Amino acid sequence: MKVLATAPGKATLFGEHSVVYGRPAIAMAINRRVTVELTSRKDDKAVLHFPDVSVKGFTLTFKGEAITAKTNKANASQAAGYVVEAIRTVAKRLGDYRGVNVTVKSEMPVGAGLGTSAAVAIATAAAYSELLGKRFDGPALSRIGREVELRVQKVSSGMDSSVIALGGLVEFQLKGSDLVAHPLHFKEEMPMVLGYCPRISTTAQSVARVAQLRDRNIHVIEKVFDSIEQVVLEAKKKIVGGETASLGELMNINQGLLSALGVSTLKIEEMVYAARKAGASGAKLTGAGMGGSVLCLVNSSTLTKPVALALSTVGAESFVFEPDYSGVRVQHV
Ligand code: MEV
Repeated sequence: MKVLATAPGKATLFGEHSVVYGRPAIAMAINRRVTVELTSRKDDKAVLHFPDVSVKGFTLTFKGEAITAKTNKANASQAAGYVVEAIRTVAKRLGDYRGVNVTVKSEMPVGAGLGTSAAVAIATAAAYSELLGKRFDGPALSRIGREVELRVQKVSSGMDSSVIALGGLVEFQLKGSDLVAHPLHFKEEMPMVLGYCPRISTTAQSVARVAQLRDRNIHVIEKVFDSIEQVVLEAKKKIVGGETASLGELMNINQGLLSALGVSTLKIEEMVYAARKAGASGAKLTGAGMGGSVLCLVNSSTLTKPVALALSTVGAESFVFEPDYSGVRVQHV
C-alpha cells in the first residue's frame, strides 16, 4: 500500500514568541508544501529517505511500543526526528505498528522558520494513520503535531501545527492546553515575498533565549508581549475590515518588538531594510528568528520583483507566495 500526504508551510504575520505565553497570533499557510510518501514493508522497519533535505537515510525497528533508531549519524537531523516521533505517536494512539518506507520532499527551505518541521510531522502523521486505516481530522492532527514538536524541540505553542493542519489564514491562541484557531480571510489580493537566510539558532534555542530575557526582565518583557498582543488585535480588525493596505505598518511595529525580544539579527535587519527601501509596506522576521525568513508585504504585485531583487543584493534568497487554503491533504496512490 502507498499513501501520500502533503502539508503546507506557514508564515506568521503577527505574534510569534508572545504566542508561546498565551497571547494571540495571526499566521497563514503558504502555497509551498512538504510531501511525505509511505509505502508498506513486509518487515517491521521504518526506513527514512530524504532525497532533497540533505539527511542521510536511516532505519527504525518497532519492538512492541519501543522504536529503536539506527542511524549512520550520531545526531540524526531534526527533520528525521519529526518523522520518527510522528510515527511513534500515531502508532501508540492506534495501538498498531507496521513497517514503512518513508520519503520526505520539500518545496521550501527546511529550517528557515517556515514551519517545515511541523509540516513534516503532520504530513507523516496523516499518511501513517491513513495507512493504518484511520483518518484524523484537522484539530486532531494539530494536537498530534504539537505533541511531536514538544517531544523533539521541547517547546511549542501549537500555532504552526494548527495553521498547517487547517490551512488558510488563522487567528491562533494557546489557552491552557487547548489550541484555539479561528479562520480569517483576506478581502483583497495580498502580494507577499519571503526572503530567507541561514538560521544561527534552532527554534528551541530562540524560544529559550526569549525565556531567559523574560526571566531577567519580567515586567519589561511582559509589556513587550502586551504590545505585540495589541498589534495582533489591531491587525485582526484591519483584516476583518478589509483595510489590508495598512497592515504593513503593524508588521514593522511587530518587527521592532521582536528586535526588543533579541531574536532579530544583523542579517535579518539588512533584509528588512532592503525590502522596505524597495517598496515593501511591511517587512518583519517570521518564525522563531535568529536568521531564517523575512515576510514582506507589498501593496502592488508590480513591487514583488524589486523587493526580491533588493533581498538578493543583501545575500538572501526569496520567493513570491500566496496563502494556501487547503491544509494537510492525504491520498492513496
Ligand atoms: C515558531 O514558528 C513560532 C514560535 O512562536 C514558537 C511557537 O509558537 O511554538 C517562536
